[in-house]
Amino acid sequence: MENIGSEKVIVIDFGGQYNQLVARRVRECNVYCEIYSYKTPLEDIRKMNPKGIILTGGPNSVYEAGAPTATPDLFHMGIPVLGLCYGAQLMMHVLGGKVEKAPEREYGKTKVCIDKPASRLFTGVDSKTVCWMSHNDYISRVAEGFEIIAHTANCPAAAAENEGQQLYAFQFHPEVLHTVQGKLMLHNFVFGVCGCAGDWKMEDFAEKTIRELREKIGDGKVLCALSGGVDSSVCAVLLSKAVGKKLTCVFVDHGLLRKDEGDLVSGVFGPDGPYDLNFIRVNAQERFYKKLAGVTEPEKKRKIIGEEFIRVFEEESKKIGKVDFLAQGTIYPDVVESGLGGESATIKSHHNVGGLPDFVDFKEIVEPLRNLFKDEVRKVGLHLGIPEALVMRQPFPGPGLGIRIIGEVTPEKVRIVQEADAIYREEMDKAGMNKTVGQYFAALTNMRSVGVMGDERTYDYAIALRAVNTVDFMTADAAEVPYEVLKTVTSRIVNEVSHVNRVFYDVTSKPPGTIEFE
Ligand code: XMP
Repeated sequence: MENIGSEKVIVIDFGGQYNQLVARRVRECNVYCEIYSYKTPLEDIRKMNPKGIILTGGPNSVYEAGAPTATPDLFHMGIPVLGLCYGAQLMMHVLGGKVEKAPEREYGKTKVCIDKPASRLFTGVDSKTVCWMSHNDYISRVAEGFEIIAHTANCPAAAAENEGQQLYAFQFHPEVLHTVQGKLMLHNFVFGVCGCAGDWKMEDFAEKTIRELREKIGDGKVLCALSGGVDSSVCAVLLSKAVGKKLTCVFVDHGLLRKDEGDLVSGVFGPDGPYDLNFIRVNAQERFYKKLAGVTEPEKKRKIIGEEFIRVFEEESKKIGKVDFLAQGTIYPDVVESGLGGESATIKSHHNVGGLPDFVDFKEIVEPLRNLFKDEVRKVGLHLGIPEALVMRQPFPGPGLGIRIIGEVTPEKVRIVQEADAIYREEMDKAGMNKTVGQYFAALTNMRSVGVMGDERTYDYAIALRAVNTVDFMTADAAEVPYEVLKTVTSRIVNEVSHVNRVFYDVTSKPPGTIEFE
């Protein structure tokens, strides 16, 4: 599954925060793209036979000792190169231009004036266009053979090119959406300069991956931990199409799933569903509830759920015996965030299912989705005919409702939050909010208060509704859900869910709040 695209563009990472965005933009052109560390040997890059190379931005100064660099040969392979920000400065620095601290730092949306409209990168681009700038250094002299093709008020070389050598430099970031015509510029590079055909399609990916999995696995046995989340579901379906009954999927129902979710997953993957695989649903609800009884501390709850999950999975896999392959739904951002071995920060070490490989007796891991971004995984899922309810699912935390019930988890509280959440989701769907809001759910506060129902005094729980919009889940804003929708949801919850007499809407952003409550 290494060389999956017939043509590819590679991104060389110098530690820029937008490295994944660059690759995504290229893939949006239907051109396969991978990210490599700047430390990757030139010989390896040459062997990949890329149609083009893009150098990312980065936090360093090219003229400092020890700064990430590139060999001049990188620019003399006859392969088009586009340098962005640090990448642009590095290109000039390595090829004999001059980079120094800018008299004026540029940050934010900046008007760029195009000096050479005939440049192949600027086909269809306006003569004045807004671009995203973020730099302290600037190119004070371009290298020999280059001409300046755009400038800003403070940056004389906002873009430069050496057309004969197919080398291009942008001081700004075309990959960021604030650069209004950035997508067009990258499109121009990928098609106009690199001559790509744009034949990277998810349908082809699915068929090719199924063929490759079949070849690789042969008569071997595969074990897959299926959570019902997007990644593990698509991973399981690819494998089932490839090897059918040689695959065993273990689905642990920890009793902390959303309403009817266990049945939805079993319906799709179980014996009554369209796939012919060995699907094992482990109904471990009672085990989890027992372990969680009396526990109120959030981190402790998370730990108990994680550990118990592993115990259950371990017991099930022992029953199956030795397997040849363990399948994991690792996706490309996991790979990139686990560090490319270069300048990029290791944001998190990725363990898709909490250290499973330590105890499962297997030969090799298969990760059929490790080259895909989330939206691409979704496209594959839809192409494979997996129900939209599974494929387009919002993120759902591993510890499930366990962290949406503040304080002790009991079966009764699970029922309350499941019912309330189902009503909330139904009404949000009806109002079309599922198309515009990133993530929403109900949580059960640990607060009880006095209310009145009929002529009776009540002393019951309060539900908190959360709805957020977010790009990366690192920061988030509370969504502006119409008051009418909130009123309907509140009225239905207090009327239909016993032991709830109050509903709150959480307008806290992240930070200082988090998306989940625990
Ligand atoms: P927070 O609450 O940290 O959530 O703002 C950010 C995003 O991550 C999800 N989340 C989790 N996902 N395991 C997961 O797989 C977890 O333990 C976990 N905790 C939070 C959360 O739903 C949100 O999308």
